[in-house]
Amino acid sequence: MKTRRETVLEQYRDSANLGARAALHERYSTNPHPWFRWVFDQLDLPDDTRVLELGCGPGILWVENLDRVPDGWCVTLTDLSAGMLEEARGKLHEGLNHGAFQVADAQDLPYDDSAFDAVIASHMLYHVPNRQRALREIARVLVPGGRLYAATNGAGNLDRLRVLKRTYFPQYAATEEESRLEGFALENGTAQLRQVFSDVVLRRYRDALVVTETEPLVAYVRSTMFAQAAQRELPPREFEGILGALRRDLDEELARHGAIRIAKEMGLFIATTDVTRA
Ligand SMILES: C[S@@+](CC[C@H](N)C(=O)[O-])C[C@H]1O[C@@H](n2cnc3c(N)ncnc32)[C@H](O)[C@@H]1O
Repeated sequence: MKTRRETVLEQYRDSANLGARAALHERYSTNPHPWFRWVFDQLDLPDDTRVLELGCGPGILWVENLDRVPDGWCVTLTDLSAGMLEEARGKLHEGLNHGAFQVADAQDLPYDDSAFDAVIASHMLYHVPNRQRALREIARVLVPGGRLYAATNGAGNLDRLRVLKRTYFPQYAATEEESRLEGFALENGTAQLRQVFSDVVLRRYRDALVVTETEPLVAYVRSTMFAQAAQRELPPREFEGILGALRRDLDEELARHGAIRIAKEMGLFIATTDVTRA
């Protein structure tokens, strides 16, 4: 049985799995203002800010906003996965004026107290086993009055895709479902952040997917942790047979309705450390 850390590192060895999911969002999202542009809009920060990103993945937030990063920002990108960080470095080391790249676990940050003015944790806190420890680490490396920007999903996000996972891989979906419910979501994030930060606000991003092709949906399901657990454990023919059944059912549904609509629930918490902290 793999530990949670091993499973996360396997899933995020490089950006292939994340990329399959990002491709679905890029192609079929209904909001014309893309997610990462919207996240950047929320960073209301001065021109000389020191920014730390945790779990940066392949650095897409920065790739998609390079045209508006102020020259005076010092940006430190970190991830638990060395493979992800190398991809981010490859894409960004020339584009970011003052960019640094370092492998780091959010639960144990290799930085001095008050080293940053802002920390970004986008779609990553739900992967961190000891989240309170990570939140205390984030508050420690932030200056008093510094801000954490933490993006995550709501419980109903991509509901239709979860139904597909449960239907086609019932024995593997259960564990994922349990970890999602106890994780860091739009519904329970405020309470978790308030244990460490003095002020917490939530901003929601309105969006949905209207998907008109089968293959990107199959690629999405195939890229998830639970489908990969199934692929490891089932005989290859059985695994491919399940994906074949999924493909046929989606083809039928698209032939009948022309498109599959999938709800999205995404948002960003902005949490501020106590200005009077000693
Ligand atoms: C869903 S991806 C999000 C990537 C990127 N932030 C984005 O919004 O597209 C989650 C990332 O968090 C990283 N991660 C998971 N656990 C972590 C931890 N304890 N500390 C730092 N990074 C972690 C993974 O390696 C992965 O790159």
